[in-house]
Amino acid sequence: MGKMRRAGEKEMDSKQKKGKFIVLEGLDGSGKGTQVSRLAEALRQQGRKVCQTAEPTISVTGGLLRDALGGFVKRDAYELSALFLLDRIFHNVNEHNGIQQYLEKGYDVVCDRYYYSSFAYQGIDADLQWVMDMNLSCREILKPDVCIFLDVSPDVGEQRLAESRTEREIYENSQTQKKVRERFLEVFRMLEGRENIRIVDASRSVGEVSADIIEIYNSLKEK
Ligand code: TYD
Repeated sequence: MGKMRRAGEKEMDSKQKKGKFIVLEGLDGSGKGTQVSRLAEALRQQGRKVCQTAEPTISVTGGLLRDALGGFVKRDAYELSALFLLDRIFHNVNEHNGIQQYLEKGYDVVCDRYYYSSFAYQGIDADLQWVMDMNLSCREILKPDVCIFLDVSPDVGEQRLAESRTEREIYENSQTQKKVRERFLEVFRMLEGRENIRIVDASRSVGEVSADIIEIYNSLKEK
């Protein structure tokens, strides 16, 4: 039987969890994808075993989400919240490549987006508290050791998207990105003291941002 936990408090028994769980978050165009790959590579070079992963996942639910994000199927914010929740539980528990079993085997898990994205994106049109409660009170959804937020102004994100994308997903417009950034920052304030959240200025060069991220990782190991 599992231990009882208060809503919003999640821990994994330290004896079970051997690797570090690092989440990168940011607006579309924040350079997150590049930084996730660079961090994973840097950790491998330090001799760590690394699982590099992302949400939405490549599961069937991830496919439903991508259809909605691409605008091919219309879904409301509550449906999206529930689908992201289902995808995230699967991402944690599945026995082939789930986060939990990687951490137990001593892998560091580097994840591109996690529940903070549900709070920031779905939390605009769905009830934020409901979205937070569903994710934070689910014992199968592990709390990361750190969430690193790659902060760019929506204008910088927009400029980077314009350079790299021909197709746009439903959230990839400057008005929504402004709201999403505000929501992220609001949620981080709400989670202060409960979650380890680090905000990094991602308007700088790839190398500078990367160096900060590795420093944050190294500070985790010393704990
Ligand atoms: P993104 O990291 O931008 O993937 P890609 O660069 O491959 O398009 O993520 C896709 C979108 O999913 C992004 O706009 C944010 C959205 N998203 C949510 O709205 N809620 C969530 O819980 C997650 C994980 C992502």
